[in-house]
Order: sequence, then structure tokens, then C-alpha cells
Amino acid sequence: ITLYVPRDAAAISMGADKVAEAIRREAASHDVDVRIVRNGSRGLLWLEPLVEVATPAGRIAYGPVTEGDVASLFAAGWLHGGDHALRQGNIEQHPWFANQQRLTFARVGLIDPIDTSNYAAHGGWKGLRRALGMAPAGVVQAITDSGLRGRGGAAFPTGIKWKTVLDTPAAQKYIVCNADEGDSGTFSDRMLMEGDPFSLIEGMAIAGIAVGATRGYIYLRSEYPHALRALEEAITAAYEAGWLGAGIGDSHRRFDLEVRRGAGAYICGEETSLLESLEGKRGQVRFKPPLPAIEGLFGQPTVINNVITLASVPFIVTEGAEAYRDYGMGRSRGTLPLQLAGNIKHGGLVERAFGLTLRELLYDYGGGSASGRPIRAVQVGGPLGAYMPESQFDTPIDYEAFAAVGAMLGHGGIVVFDDSVDLLEQARYAMEFCAIESCGKCTPCRIGSTRGVEVIDRIAARLDRDRQEALLRDLCETMLHGSLCALGGMTPYPVLSALNHFPEDFSPERRAPA
Ligand code: NAI
Ligand code: SF4
Repeated sequence: ITLYVPRDAAAISMGADKVAEAIRREAASHDVDVRIVRNGSRGLLWLEPLVEVATPAGRIAYGPVTEGDVASLFAAGWLHGGDHALRQGNIEQHPWFANQQRLTFARVGLIDPIDTSNYAAHGGWKGLRRALGMAPAGVVQAITDSGLRGRGGAAFPTGIKWKTVLDTPAAQKYIVCNADEGDSGTFSDRMLMEGDPFSLIEGMAIAGIAVGATRGYIYLRSEYPHALRALEEAITAAYEAGWLGAGIGDSHRRFDLEVRRGAGAYICGEETSLLESLEGKRGQVRFKPPLPAIEGLFGQPTVINNVITLASVPFIVTEGAEAYRDYGMGRSRGTLPLQLAGNIKHGGLVERAFGLTLRELLYDYGGGSASGRPIRAVQVGGPLGAYMPESQFDTPIDYEAFAAVGAMLGHGGIVVFDDSVDLLEQARYAMEFCAIESCGKCTPCRIGSTRGVEVIDRIAARLDRDRQEALLRDLCETMLHGSLCALGGMTPYPVLSALNHFPEDFSPERRAPA
């Protein structure tokens, strides 16, 4: 009998390792033979650890399982899908998956993340095999035609970036995966790397073939030890199976891949700082141009893409650009893995085509706030994203629609706040975050963020209110236009959105927190 116990960091933090041990012990005491597969998370985080039992009627899930529940689960006959208070039924029919369109996350939670043949049995390596039989420009064209845009947050067309690298002659080119997922409330990169690392490896190998790069690096944040283990095990397995190294997939092509760990600086998620760090230098932003696509790692043409961008590539090459392009709205094509976090009843991962609204996400999937109080604000797109009020909850998930209301989708992270939130405190936090994480290269960010904290403190202390607000707006204007990179340049988004949409929190009669 096969059981699935996630090895995902969220599940482990809730005791998944202990649960797996308890299952082994209990099975031995009942003299039953069980095989435990450590899969990725299905993304229903409030049910973790979510254990699945493979039965003739499908995979029956139980969760959240604690060590102490294991004996009663055996007593209830869970190995045959028996009834129990924690029984969630057939996982694939769970309402959480209703209307989800899992293209990039299709295998996450389903497969054994480090078993290459299990990956192949679920459609893996088909895209790479196909790419090996295509002209490089044909692969780049397919990515362009799919409409895929950078999922790290900036939404730049991936095909154009790849074409720049393809068209730039050089003896050595590189593929760099940005796995420094630093945005608060985001975890899709981590879930993907822990639950289906081969899809990232395959996407990077396809990128290498498409642009003529023979070497790749995954720049992983040091706070992700479980992802590191999964990636290293998967890379070793891919080398052994002939999908990495010389002659990949029985071709004459070569692609080598290794993981490099960051050291905990938010700014190293910015692509040029990331390159500096990868080269062994201090993580500081470089001037652009030259673009990394022309002069990137060690001065060579480099594709830098986020984990989800690269992991979306195998689907596109396997199923064709049209199949991906058919999803979505306007210029936002395909799907986005959205991450629901903060004060939300059902937090987790929802992959849907662009076009659904924030409200659908918050209430149909999220079930409203965890506290049961009204949702007052959501911050979308990480610590540099805008705070959106209830009046904007009908905004469709679409890059342009978000930009039109002064917000941004970013990496798809959504952090929910109920009516006890103090938006002045949140605005102050944005400035403070910028002051702490600033690389110090330019003045508006380095000095402006510290001055921003001081101005907000004066507003809180009701000192010279109108002048301080004018100062804060002026400061935001300077940071917006005068900063070298997105850290200083986007900190005004959370600050100004808080000020504009929630003025009562900044007024002299500051509203008492609910
Ligand atoms: P950007 O707009 O400067 O660049 C986007 C990408 O397109 C870069 O890779 C750039 O090199 C490339 N590019 C631009 N023009 C090109 C051309 N003509 N040919 C080839 N490539 C070209 O944005 P940036 O500064 O890279 O990213 C900012 C975004 O990062 C923000 O919008 C934010 O959402 C996101 N972000 C994400 C975080 C995360 O944890 N995922 C953390 C912090 C910020
Ligand atoms: Fe560095 Fe801030 Fe300037 Fe970016 S905006 S280059 S983080 S000082």
C-alpha cells in the first residue's frame, strides 16, 4: 500500500516528518507493508500535513494529520480509504481544485519529486525531447507565440528576452534561474522546486538549447533548505538518467546545471545584484544597460528567468504555444500560480488562467478571513506591492488591469488583512523594509527610505500633519522616479496606496484599531 506524505517545507513545519515516522512505526506494529512516497504539497496549506492513501478508488486524503492521529487512522482502516474525522475524500475531487487550471503545477503533489521515471510517466522530458529535434530559433518562436511573460514580477515577454540572447554571439552563454523568492507571502517557487524540480530542470535545459547556452545556475535563497535538498537530489538523478550533462537525451547537446545559494539579502533577487552575488561579489545593483541578455553573468549573454517562468516552458514546448496561449485574457496569457497568505481561512496555491477576480480568489477559494472579520485590505505582489481596498476586489487578475488601478500583480502573492490592520503601520513598514534591504547605491532609496520612516512617525504623532503628508508624497515621487532599481522605485506603491485608499488611518483623529 502506497501512502503520500509531503516533503514540502510547509508540511514539514506542521510535523510531516514525524507523521511519516509514526506511520512507519504503526504499520510495522500491524505487520503491514507500506511504501511512503514523500511528494510535494497539493497547495491546500490549511490541511497540511495532508496524507494521501492510494486506493482502487483513487488517492484518498486525510488532513491535517498529527503524529497523535496515526493510531486512530489505522484503527479506522484508512489504508483502504476508511472513514475518519480527518478524511477529506478523493483529493482530485476536492472543491479547492474546482476550476483550477494546473498547467505548471500539474505534477506538484502528484508525483515522487525525485524519481525521473515517475516524472516521465506523467509527461516529463517530452518538451526537452521535442526541443532537441527543433531549430533553436523555432523553440524561441514557440515561447514568443505562447505569450509567456516573466513570472518573477516584471512580466517582460520571455520570448523577446530569449531572442536577444540567441541573437548575441558569444563563446559561452548562461541560463540563470532566479530562485531568490524574497517577496513576503509568496511560495510558488519553493513549492515547485520541492514538488516538481524536474520541470524546472527541463525548462532550463530547453532554454539552454534554445539560446545556445551550455551551463545553468539556480540561484537559491539560503532560507530554502528543503528546496535545496530536492534540487540537488533531482539534479543528480537527471545526470544519472542522461537528461543533464554531455549528450542529453541521446543528442550531441550538452547542458550542465548547479545550484548556488544566496546569503539572505532581498536585493539579490534583483537580477543584476544576483549576477554580482553569483560571481562571488557583494550583491549590489548594476547599471542597465547593458542588459543581462547582452552582458550578464561573467560579462556573457545570459537568460535570467524566475522559477515559474522556466517551469512553464516544458508545457509550452510539449503541448504547443497555442495550447498555452488559449488561457488568459488580453496580453496576460496562460496561467498564474497565485499564493494566498496572511489572514485567510484557506491559504495555499491556486493556479488559474488570468482573468478571475481578486474577490473570487479571496472568497471562493480563500473562504474569507481566518479571523472571521471583514477583509479590509490585501497587498498583492510582495512588500513593494500596493494595498488594495475592498472597492478594487473586482479587478481581474491581469497585468494591465492591475497597472490601471495603480497596483501590480508581481509574483502573484496575495497577503490578506482584516479590519484590525493599521495602514499607517504598514506604510511605515514598507519604508523601514526598504531602509533595511537597500543596497545603498543610490540616494533616493538609501536616504529616502529612512526619511520616509521619520515622516510617517511624525504623522502618527500628529505633528504638523498636512506638511508631513506633502513631504511624504514628495519623497515618494523622488523615490519612484529617481531610484536605480525596483526596491527604491516601488516602495512608494505600498506607501501611497495606504495613504490614498485608507486616509482615515493617517488622519489626526487616527481611527482606533478595530
Ligand atoms: P525590468 O522591467 O527592469 O526587467 C524585466 C526583465 O526584462 C529583466 O530581466 C530585464 O533584463 C529584461 N529586459 C528588459 N528589456 C529587455 C530587452 N529589450 N531585451 C531583453 N531583455 C530585456 O524589471 P526588474 O527590475 O527585473 O524586476 C522588477 C520586478 O521584480 C517588480 O515588478 C517586482 O514585481 C519583481 N520582484 C519580484 C520579487 C520576487 O520575490 N519574485 C522580489 C522583488 C521584486
Ligand atoms: Fe540599491 Fe535601492 Fe538604488 Fe536599488 S534603489 S540600486 S536597492 S539603493
